[in-house]
Amino acid sequence: MDLKDIGMERGLLYETVVTTVDSNGKPNAAPIGIICKNNLEVVCYLHHGSTTVKNIKDTKSFVVNVLKDPMIFVESTLGNLPIEKYESHGDKFYIGSTDAFFVADVTSIKDVERKDQFGVSVTSVLKADVSDITKFKQCVEPLNRAIYGIVEGLVYLTRMNMVSGDMEKLYRHRMAEIARIVSKVGAKDHKNAMDMIMEAFKDFD
Ligand SMILES: Cc1cc2nc3c(=O)[nH]c(=O)nc-3n(C[C@H](O)[C@H](O)[C@H](O)COP(=O)(O)O)c2cc1C
Repeated sequence: MDLKDIGMERGLLYETVVTTVDSNGKPNAAPIGIICKNNLEVVCYLHHGSTTVKNIKDTKSFVVNVLKDPMIFVESTLGNLPIEKYESHGDKFYIGSTDAFFVADVTSIKDVERKDQFGVSVTSVLKADVSDITKFKQCVEPLNRAIYGIVEGLVYLTRMNMVSGDMEKLYRHRMAEIARIVSKVGAKDHKNAMDMIMEAFKDFD
């Protein structure tokens, strides 16, 4: 089995929940974007300061949970998941309700200073080899934000002739942000679709 078997396409960024363990064996979960680099290789960018980056630097491995459960995303962002939501896999943990998971063993870590829209920060760029891919559902669909952006973009586009003033400004601002996200996380067809929306949006200039 490889990443294609759980719906991951090369070059795309997927929103997953990563589980890690600390030196005392305590599990932790956090949403993390995972880029599918190859059929059995992933890349991720970790901002410094999280438990996730500390645990991965200590253990050099992590588990990627492919799921769409909104409560797991929210609970793992706002705090940690209750212990009963984890299942053990050797000395690692996955989330019991996940659609699929795999183990990622880190092959390289580079700390880089990055400048983005939030300012300058240190980010660890990680490459990892994939193993132990486990599916609990026949058809696994990893979460990619591009299609949601396109749908939102179309909704704004079809409402443009109904808005004015501050609301119109807000729509224009959101469209620019959606275009940024689609170009960051999407595949070629998502980007082509977004280009068409932006082209049609020009009619309102
Ligand atoms: C959908 C989503 C994707 C995220 N992707 C990343 C990411 O790729 N890298 C990162 O460092 N933080 C990412 N975050 C932020 C972390 O999940 C967040 O800082 C979390 O609180 C860290 O938890 P921890 O301290 O338990 O590791 C993401 C958050 C969300 C909601």
